[in-house]
Amino acid sequence: MTRGINDQKLTIAMPKGRIFEESLVFLQQSGLNVTADLKESRKLIIPVEGAQLEFILAKPTDVPTYVEYGVADVGVVGKDVLLEEERDVYELLDLQIGYCRMMVAGLPDWKPVEAPRVATKYPRIASRYFREQGQQVEVIKLNGSVELAPLIGLADRIVDIVSTGQTLRENGLTEMEHICEITTRFIANRASYRMKSEAVDDIANKFLQVIPKRK
Ligand code: PRP
Repeated sequence: MTRGINDQKLTIAMPKGRIFEESLVFLQQSGLNVTADLKESRKLIIPVEGAQLEFILAKPTDVPTYVEYGVADVGVVGKDVLLEEERDVYELLDLQIGYCRMMVAGLPDWKPVEAPRVATKYPRIASRYFREQGQQVEVIKLNGSVELAPLIGLADRIVDIVSTGQTLRENGLTEMEHICEITTRFIANRASYRMKSEAVDDIANKFLQVIPKRK
C-alpha cells in the first residue's frame, strides 16, 4: 500500500488487553466514530466509516514498534510499555486513563539475600531501577503470571504493574517498593507527526477536550 505525503489518512495502533476497553471508551468520548464491534471483532485492521481513519489492533508491547516504523501513524499505549520498549516515538499526551503502578513485590517474610532473583515482564525497567538503587539483582524475564515466581521459588521478588492489587492479595504477596506511576499515552511516529500534522493535531485536540473532564 503506498501512501503519499499529503495523504492525511491516519492509522491508529490500539493495544488489545488490559487497557483496551478504557481506551475504547476514551476514543468514543472524544467523538471518534469507533463502534463497539471493535471489541467483538477478530479483525485486526478496522476502517472507521466516514473518516480518514483506521485502527490496527496490536499486542500492547508491539504498539510502539508499529508506530516507530510508521505502519501506524499514532498509537495508544501504556507508559509501562514505553519505558520497557524504548522506541523512537513522540509521546504527545498523557490520556490519564489506565492508572496503575510499577511495583517491587514479594512474599511478606522475604529476607534480603545477596543478588536476589527478580522475575518480571519488564526486564529493562527492573534492571534500571535496581541499578539506580545500587542493588545487584538477577533479572528473569517472564511473559505473564509473574506472581507465580516467588510462590514456586523461581524468584525472590517480582517487578510488575499493580492496578487493584487483587492479583498480589490472592497470591499472598505484598507491595514493597514503588517504582513509578503508569498511565496510558498517545504517541506518534516522528515523520507522521510532521507530514500529517493536521490529522494528528485534530485527534490530539479531541483527546484534550476529554482529559480534564475525566479528572
Ligand atoms: C497485569 C499485571 C498483574 C495484574 C495486576 O497482568 O501483570 O498480574 O494485571 O492487576 P491487579 O492489581 O488489578 O490484580 P495481566 O492481566 O496483564 O496478565 P498477565 O499476568 O498474563 O500479563
